[in-house]
Amino acid sequence: MLAARDTVGTTLTWIFYNLAQNPNIVSIIRNELSPIASNKVAAGVDAMVIFEPDETKSLVYLKAVLYETLRLYPPAPFERKTVAADDIMPSGHELGTGDTILISLHSMGRMEGLWGKDCLNYNPDRWLSEDGNKLKYVPSHKFLAFNSGPRICLGKDIAVMQMKTVIASTLWNFDVEVMEGQSIQAKPSCILEMKNGLMVKLKKRGM
Ligand code: HEM
Repeated sequence: MLAARDTVGTTLTWIFYNLAQNPNIVSIIRNELSPIASNKVAAGVDAMVIFEPDETKSLVYLKAVLYETLRLYPPAPFERKTVAADDIMPSGHELGTGDTILISLHSMGRMEGLWGKDCLNYNPDRWLSEDGNKLKYVPSHKFLAFNSGPRICLGKDIAVMQMKTVIASTLWNFDVEVMEGQSIQAKPSCILEMKNGLMVKLKKRGM
């Protein structure tokens, strides 16, 4: 449950929080959804338009939004490795058998050396190719949110698919407004939850 439910739930909370601060990004997502939505009919006045996994597969900008959130708010904020044999890191640090290495994914996502001068900005465009039609290749040892190597997250594709369908359906049907007066803080633990949760108001969009 921790691997599959808490990671996805936590990421969705941070996504809706970030999107509420960036209405221009919400508009770009809705533009990307528009051709799919125009082929779907919501049954009844209050009915929702629901996006299916196959329909959101090709949505490149939505995936960039997802990855940008995971870069800044990785739900598994630390990775722990145990040294199997004495070694010397490329940095020159000496490691002894049995030592524990803690890697902060949260810090890695905010390092200027890895992501450039705007590393603290929420900018999904950094994931897009120059023509904006596909995602840039970013190696998993740089973007470690799903881990890297033989113990990479087995549920990565399912997680991406689940989150894309939830974001698409929510944003197409509702305006999401974050309630004022909340203290938004991360709670450092094995999952990067929002300490006080996130209260939002959903307003049905007129379409
Ligand atoms: C936002 C969503 C998710 C993120 C960021 C994420 C991240 C991770 C990370 C960092 C690990 C490596 C943990 C470690 O060994 O230290 C991991 C492992 C794993 N994840 Fe995910 N995960 C997500 C969703 C899911 C989902 C939805 C499933 C199942 C449907 C899943 C199944 C697994 C499994 C089975 C492993 C263990 C793989 C192994 O050790 O061989 N994850 N995940």
